[in-house]
Amino acid sequence: MPKRPFNNRLNDLAPKEWLKFQKSWFIHNPPPRRKYVLRHPAKFPETLAQEFIEFFTKKGQVVFDPLAGTGSTLVAALRSGRHCYGVELNPAYAEIARQVVAEEKSALGLSADSFTAEIIPGNALEIINLLAAHPIPPVNYVLTSPPYWDMLHASGAQTQKARRESAEMDVFYSDDPNDLGNIHDYDEFIEKLAGIFIALKPFLVDNAYLTIIVKNVKKKGKIYPLAWDLAKRLCEIYSLKDEKIWAQDNQRLAPYGLGNAWVSNTFHHYCLQFRKEGEKRE
Ligand SMILES: C[S@@+](CC[C@H](N)C(=O)[O-])C[C@H]1O[C@@H](n2cnc3c(N)ncnc32)[C@H](O)[C@@H]1O
Repeated sequence: MPKRPFNNRLNDLAPKEWLKFQKSWFIHNPPPRRKYVLRHPAKFPETLAQEFIEFFTKKGQVVFDPLAGTGSTLVAALRSGRHCYGVELNPAYAEIARQVVAEEKSALGLSADSFTAEIIPGNALEIINLLAAHPIPPVNYVLTSPPYWDMLHASGAQTQKARRESAEMDVFYSDDPNDLGNIHDYDEFIEKLAGIFIALKPFLVDNAYLTIIVKNVKKKGKIYPLAWDLAKRLCEIYSLKDEKIWAQDNQRLAPYGLGNAWVSNTFHHYCLQFRKEGEKRE
């Protein structure tokens, strides 16, 4: 531990908590979801989002999620005393996010005007126009998770099977052609997804971090290194600051390739860290 006073310019953590977060992997098994957010096919846990927000910001700073889903980042920001803005394409998820945020504010005893947690319905592929119409303060941190390409359209996944049989749960995010999860060409998907973060750069304060939670994906036996390809593309614009690996160890193992070939049960995600620093081209 440092002997001199700990001058913490990034967050409000004590040195011990800071060090704990710097480990490059962690296990986080999502707690059960609240009933009305079950409709959404792929949300990340608020408890996980809160740890990231509390590392990469100080109290009162501004967090942004351009693909906000049912609002986990906004809820986590409220719990940590940060302001948060999110964009979501599907109006039904945007409405759920609004309800979730209102409930969280009342559970935390926060008045309506204490911390901002605002969901902006719209298309993140047009983030510049969207934020011109809904101005937000300079952003200190971006935390998000995009659709994992068009993987929700894959017919084999067990989770998808359960969803197809339920009237209350969505299999895909939407039918909207602007939905990143409906882009079937891999290169186009990477380029459009990267375009959102490139367009966001002027809205971020200098030295702001971005965390993007993604996975490499497998389709018809072929690996598409989505996490690595996105990291490589965004390195042209931001500084890549390594990854933190999120592992889940409560998933049922499937006997893929048993007795025949190596096929992993992929129970980890990459939390890719980027920073806006130095001179990189816009
Ligand atoms: C992996 S989910 C995010 C889940 C979110 N982190 C949560 O915990 O609820 C990705 C979200 O991106 C949204 N999305 C897809 N394309 C979009 C676009 N062009 N603009 C805005 N949102 C989009 C989907 O509707 C989906 O809710």
